[in-house]
Amino acid sequence: MSDRPSRFTPRVFSGIQPSGNLHLGNYLGAVKRFVDWQARDVETIFCMVDQHAITVWQDPADLARSTRELAAGFIAAGIDPERSILIAQSQVPEHAQLAWILNCVARMGWMRRMTQWKEKAGKNAEEASLGLFAYPALMAADILVYHATHVPVGEDQKQHIELTRDIAAKFNHDYGVDFFPETQPVIEGAGTRVMSLRDGSRKMSKSDASDAARINMTDDADAIARKIRRARTDPKPLPETAEGLETRPEARNLVNIYAALREITVEAAIAEVGGQGFGQFKPLLADLAVEKLSPIAGEMARLMDDPAQIDAILGRGAERARAIAAPILDETYRIVGFVRPA
Ligand code: AMP
Ligand code: TRP
Repeated sequence: MSDRPSRFTPRVFSGIQPSGNLHLGNYLGAVKRFVDWQARDVETIFCMVDQHAITVWQDPADLARSTRELAAGFIAAGIDPERSILIAQSQVPEHAQLAWILNCVARMGWMRRMTQWKEKAGKNAEEASLGLFAYPALMAADILVYHATHVPVGEDQKQHIELTRDIAAKFNHDYGVDFFPETQPVIEGAGTRVMSLRDGSRKMSKSDASDAARINMTDDADAIARKIRRARTDPKPLPETAEGLETRPEARNLVNIYAALREITVEAAIAEVGGQGFGQFKPLLADLAVEKLSPIAGEMARLMDDPAQIDAILGRGAERARAIAAPILDETYRIVGFVRPA
């Protein structure tokens, strides 16, 4: 599982922000792979990171709805809240408590180099929230408060996981301990970077103004098929080899989506569909997407009819999570020199 032996028991953690719609990029890059991890013999913890979401403004009612909808999305996609621990970040206060300590370990210069900070704060950094700047330290705390060893994420989060390792290493070094593990990012498969359906150079994202650019996990069959039919492409047929996709971002994206949905490699996908024109390939992809995604949307809608049940699941998840996190936080406090209650 890991490329080097570690004294830490393997434990998987990952998080998704409950802001806006869960989309195909989140599903293929993250949730679907969480489900694969859950099937293995390892403890898995998945988190709705509501405290990360409010680093930019969130309407309170929308945030609550998105949090429950994301929980429904996890469950509908196959996360079993008995096997995995499913939590809302704000219900496990140990994340924010550890984050404070990590804020004091991380350096301003490290944070300033983060691509996500640069993109989100843009030219208006003076007006960005302090939380947006500190975002990666809270993310490190999410992971380290469980001594998590493996973090499955999409490609865009790699830099944050590397920062988590730097923060853990500096803590261990400064306090002369071997306390926090060296976390591994796990970025694998064809769906780690799903691009916009309107522009093959931009990633599919919750914040894209155009709804046609993404497939939402709540889209019905008609919407899915329409968005794929209208996806931007070039006029040439699909190449006969995977290398032929390198200079064709839109074609590559659709083939990647096809491969990820089919759970095959891009090479295997090209062996199936290479040479097809988009008039032939797009309906094939649309049918596949509808077949795989529609049942998830249906199950999400069913779960959303009973928000009390979702809240109960998250409450139970928080209890289980705190049982792991509280002793690790307590030990961190001792290492730092905080006097503990007698
Ligand atoms: P976010 O929606 O930014 O909270 O992302 C949640 C998870 O989905 C993270 O693991 C991201 O890396 C992953 N993710 C987000 N957008 C994409 C995308 N377009 N392609 C692949 N993975 C993505
Ligand atoms: N920053 C991640 C994103 O935007 C979400 C996240 C927060 C996360 N904490 C995490 C992902 C811990 C993995 C592990 O996608």
